[in-house]
Amino acid sequence: MDKIKISTSTKPSIIVDHVRKEFLKRNSHSFKEAFVGWIRGRKVRADKFVALDDVSFQVGEGESVAVLGWNGSGKSTTLKLVSGVLEPDAGVVLTRGRVAGLIEVGAGFHPELSGRENVFLNAAILGMKEEQTRARFDDIVAFSEIGEFIDQEVKHYSSGMFMRLAFSVAIHVDLDILLVDEVLSVGDAPFRAKCTQKIKELTQKGVTMLVVSHDLGMVEDLCERGIVLRSGKKVFDGDVKEAVEMLRSR
Ligand SMILES: Nc1ncnc2c1ncn2[C@@H]1O[C@H](COP(=O)(O)OP(=O)(O)O)[C@@H](O)[C@H]1O
Ligand SMILES: [Mg+2]
Repeated sequence: MDKIKISTSTKPSIIVDHVRKEFLKRNSHSFKEAFVGWIRGRKVRADKFVALDDVSFQVGEGESVAVLGWNGSGKSTTLKLVSGVLEPDAGVVLTRGRVAGLIEVGAGFHPELSGRENVFLNAAILGMKEEQTRARFDDIVAFSEIGEFIDQEVKHYSSGMFMRLAFSVAIHVDLDILLVDEVLSVGDAPFRAKCTQKIKELTQKGVTMLVVSHDLGMVEDLCERGIVLRSGKKVFDGDVKEAVEMLRSR
């Protein structure tokens, strides 16, 4: 492996170096076709699909970076690689510190457990001790605006309630890197404003942020830098205003 050249001005928090990610794209053969093919000794064709192609970038400590691009460009795949949910097929992904990912709404939430139990469970997954969570529990519930529903099973929550509680847990644990994929668009305007404010506070504390959102106004407000992906390739990395302009002008 070649040595990775550090390009961030602060200590690097995230390094994505020459990363490739492929998925198998099964052709939509019917079961009968597949079976007949198998009888005749033909292989079922599974084409490789390149979701990320030689993508490299680095994020310095305390930086807030937007990952932009049209549907299917590879944004969620990028965040999943950084969170460790996925492994690259080639290249290197490195992160420093504790990573909290709000990648799929309520991922890590157990539907049969109450909101309260899920708070403790998720905080524990993110490395918090029980007494630490207990000390922050009221703040977590207050921020989420879940109120009395905190003792109800999470399966009765709306997607908005789900997201608010998940977001609230993530921002109240001690974390170094926060990954946010679309989930911010679930809440209503006042809650989104509250999240934006909280994210800014976290950034000021040195938390590194990687944000995916369709809300380009929010992205411009939150991030100074934007990375634009197109069909799995990085086509821009620089000032967020220019990055957003690339998306608007198409
Ligand atoms: N688990 C998977 N299996 C097969 N294809 C996938 C999988 N995850 C993503 N893809 C494909 O990879 C491409 C990039 O997906 P994604 O990263 O979710 O894009 P974005 O978040 O930018 O919309 C898409 O074409 C998508 O269909
Ligand atoms: Mg996505």
